[in-house]
Amino acid sequence: MIDNFGREINYLRISVTDRCNLRCKYCMPAEGCGNLIPHREILTFEEIIRVAEAAASIGIHKLRLTGGEPLVRHSIVDLIAGLNAIDGIDEIDITTNGLLLEDMAHDLKQAGLCRVNISLDTFDPDKFREITRGGDLSRVLRGIEAAEREGLTPVKINCVALGGFNDDEFGRFIDLTRDRDITVRFIELMPIGSADVGEGYGFISDQDILKMHPELEPCDQERFSVSVDYHLPGAMGKVGFISALSHHFCSTCNKLRLTSDGKIKPCLHNNEEIDIKKALREGREEDVVKVLVESVNHKVARHRLNEGAEPIVRDMNKIGG
Ligand code: 5AD
Ligand code: SF4
Repeated sequence: MIDNFGREINYLRISVTDRCNLRCKYCMPAEGCGNLIPHREILTFEEIIRVAEAAASIGIHKLRLTGGEPLVRHSIVDLIAGLNAIDGIDEIDITTNGLLLEDMAHDLKQAGLCRVNISLDTFDPDKFREITRGGDLSRVLRGIEAAEREGLTPVKINCVALGGFNDDEFGRFIDLTRDRDITVRFIELMPIGSADVGEGYGFISDQDILKMHPELEPCDQERFSVSVDYHLPGAMGKVGFISALSHHFCSTCNKLRLTSDGKIKPCLHNNEEIDIKKALREGREEDVVKVLVESVNHKVARHRLNEGAEPIVRDMNKIGG
């Protein structure tokens, strides 16, 4: 479906849980999950599949499962198999912290998962424990290898650029792309929810990183991608930049977001949410479709993060990026 600004909306991000087995500082508030969504408010697999069917009927053909951490949701492999059976859905990806991937990669691939994006901000086990408030780096590294082995590729690694924390490691991230089918994507820190964003960490823009690594050359851009892509000459993989603040990527935005408690977010960077759970629990299938159409029509032309827009109140672990 085409929105009011001529953009083709063909992609739905589905947050399947707000729970996570890590507590990344920029994502969750320090007190962690004190304000978790109660289980009865969370959409069932059957309800998520009905949303995806309705989405497919208005031209959405790509899905991404997010969280929290999607792999902590019980029987997630069955959900993927169910989504994979929907006519019109031709790509299902996942964004994960990678902790559970080593054990699950094979079954995820069998169920129809196409690719994984894995969050990783440092190669130093101590720094990893610090930023994630307790995580084990070696499990993530094994998860990345398992994803490559299973062909969940190209694996994309999401690295949030944090001044004074990982700016000395960007070269090591870029080196990963030399001879592996990996895309490393540097993400600008975004002011979202009640996480302690910026406390002690400096903001680094894509231009700062490009200045530090002049060896990177621009390369072909993926259609609809939110990242601007570069590569090392002759490298197998790519290096992308996701910069919500220093550049708008709103003009090519192709997505809607579904939260685990049944709200559609037309845009990441404002607080509007449209309830779809009521239609799922009390209405008919055409009511579910109607909510999706309304949501596409509520997409704004662009965000106003840089212009003193109201702060985003929903925490990142309840949106899924
Ligand atoms: N700013 C930028 N990126 C964030 N992520 C989570 N919180 C933030 C934030 N405040 C990233 C995670 C993950 C993706 C879903 O979003 O690193 O890779
Ligand atoms: Fe969990 Fe991802 Fe948030 Fe880290 S960024 S706490 S891994 S949901």
